[in-house]
Amino acid sequence: MRKKIVAGNWKMNKNLSEGLSLIESIKAGLANGQGAGVEVIVAPSYVTLTEAVKAAAGSAVKISAQNCHQEENGAYTGEISTGMIQAIGVEYVIIGHSERRQYFNESSASIAKKINASLAKGLKPIYCNGEVKEEREAGKHFEVVQRQMNDELFHLSAEEVKKVVIAYEPVWAIGTGLTASPDQAQEIHAFIRKLLSDKYSAAVAEEISILYGGSCKPDNAVEIFGKKDVDGGLIGGAALKAEDFLALVASF
Ligand code: 13P
Repeated sequence: MRKKIVAGNWKMNKNLSEGLSLIESIKAGLANGQGAGVEVIVAPSYVTLTEAVKAAAGSAVKISAQNCHQEENGAYTGEISTGMIQAIGVEYVIIGHSERRQYFNESSASIAKKINASLAKGLKPIYCNGEVKEEREAGKHFEVVQRQMNDELFHLSAEEVKKVVIAYEPVWAIGTGLTASPDQAQEIHAFIRKLLSDKYSAAVAEEISILYGGSCKPDNAVEIFGKKDVDGGLIGGAALKAEDFLALVASF
């Protein structure tokens, strides 16, 4: 059965002490009973990960990295391998975020390799895809998402793909205040699930959580998360305040 998930992508926000204090506030809210039955994930910066894992230990909060490198080790100055991430006890890793595609020229080929490198170390990828504004306006969003999944995900076996969480994040909705309407989200999430079903099987497709991301906030989450094929959210701005993040966790 697919999990309900709310994941906070902190991006390049929160230093170590700010991050740890946010984790403490989230833990306190969850201990009060908010978010029962929801997988709660936070993705701090690399420099906070080790302490974040310690802070989250024994609580319902899971820790994710925001990126990784595809090679195991070597002369890649400034990069971090999946082995390093796994060795400190991190469970998830975000791969293929549109900001990495846009600002760091991440290609489909490197995204596919990063997914493989993560699975090889037992990390669970949170794989992001989604179209830019021009593609949505031209009605090409289905085509774009299908191509991304073909090139980046569909080389996996059924057993492997079941370990992946998919985050559909329309680029035009990220950090803009524009959100996909609940119906727009449902339409493309259902399309993504159909692609998974056609490629693998209906049973496999039913096990994979598909999250929505893009200006998801406490005031729009209930409607979006209420849609049949939306299993939760990958949250940017609203994940930086414990109160908002906890409200999102309670939005199912
Ligand atoms: P916002 O929620 O700030 O739009 O960001 C979404 C996102 O990119 C999460 O990965």
